[in-house]
Amino acid sequence: MLTGKKIVVGVSGGIAVYKVCYLVRRLKDLNAEVDVVMTENAAKFVSPLTFETLSGRPVTVDIVKEGYNGLVPHITLANKADMIVVCPATANIIGKYASGIADDALSTLLVAAHCPVMLAPAMNVHMYESAAVQSNLQLLKSRGVLFANATEGFLACGETGKGRMAEPDEIVSHIVKVLTMPEDLKGVNVLVTCGATAEPLDGVRCITNYSSGKMGCAIAERAIQRGANVTMILGIHSAAVPAGAQVVSVSTTGEMFEATLSRAEQFDVFIMAAAPCDYRPEQVSDSKIKSSELTVRFVKNPDIAKAVGLVKGNRKLVVFSAETDHGEQYATAKMQEKNADFVVLNDVKANKVFGSDYNKVTIIDGNGKTDYPSMPKTDVADIILDKVASL
Ligand SMILES: Cc1cc2nc3c(=O)[nH]c(=O)nc-3n(C[C@H](O)[C@H](O)[C@H](O)COP(=O)(O)O)c2cc1C
Repeated sequence: MLTGKKIVVGVSGGIAVYKVCYLVRRLKDLNAEVDVVMTENAAKFVSPLTFETLSGRPVTVDIVKEGYNGLVPHITLANKADMIVVCPATANIIGKYASGIADDALSTLLVAAHCPVMLAPAMNVHMYESAAVQSNLQLLKSRGVLFANATEGFLACGETGKGRMAEPDEIVSHIVKVLTMPEDLKGVNVLVTCGATAEPLDGVRCITNYSSGKMGCAIAERAIQRGANVTMILGIHSAAVPAGAQVVSVSTTGEMFEATLSRAEQFDVFIMAAAPCDYRPEQVSDSKIKSSELTVRFVKNPDIAKAVGLVKGNRKLVVFSAETDHGEQYATAKMQEKNADFVVLNDVKANKVFGSDYNKVTIIDGNGKTDYPSMPKTDVADIILDKVASL
């Protein structure tokens, strides 16, 4: 499956190093050529000899030493790699990579990298949740670095929480996906609406919703990897925006409508993953409203998906339907009303969708419905894009 693929596995110093022995073995089973680069701390957890034996190739720990016969190992590896995977990725290597620090073999390789890089973070929950680590993760994501996300669970330090390294089999399936990613959307112009909108009420308040933009960002990220030209009409979001997307920032539903419809002619595919407010306050005060009781009258906002459905012709339109009750019924009606090719239904009552990295969806089209299990939003994005490509 990975015949001819050259993968560099970077190993930094966390307790999850022992799991990486199995990962290297799995990659070899799939016929990949694997080079291992370890930090000096990682080499204290598991000996380089173990990785040398499993990979069948020399392991690089120290780049500044004699005996390389004129080769510069980090550049040689950076030039040959189809993909670099760092697992476990410690807080330290994540920080160094985000800052461009190159003070050992692995961090220097990362600065020299020009292929897809994936990190599998692993650390104590408080380290993982620290402002520094979170901001480094966001920064790297915005630069196009890929992630096998850490999961929640029992941690080697004895605590429970987020920070467990993704399981090696999951990391391997991410690697396979990236290295065998079809370029089936090459040159296709895709518009993705993403995030929440906010409707002003007065000089200090607004009405909005819980959308994080993670689903829309995942779709944009995967579409870019499959060769599409992606424009995001982007509302309020906390998700990292993928590198390579053209971004049009908006705030209100009216702005999202205008930004989408004014560009509609340019696109082959429209994916309406945003959660625009359906209603806005009829009266907006410039000043802060002072009142012991407040009654707000709402008026309907323009319907972005419906307007796209009216002008789309043969082009493809995907809509999302977040429902709490009678999901299939409402989603099917929405697909028909908007003239969409298919609808992605989220049951937001049964599942935590907003802000989560996971989603459990049902896809409905003219032929019926398919239920999917809970999976990372990037995998949901792949399923949606497979279906778009098949249309
Ligand atoms: C037993 C032990 C386990 C550790 N596990 C982790 C870990 O899972 N994640 C992490 O970020 N740091 C962990 N650390 C701390 C790192 O080893 C330390 O930050 C080190 O500087 C990382 O160096 P490196 O990134 O160059 O390998 C651990 C330390 C010890 C002693």
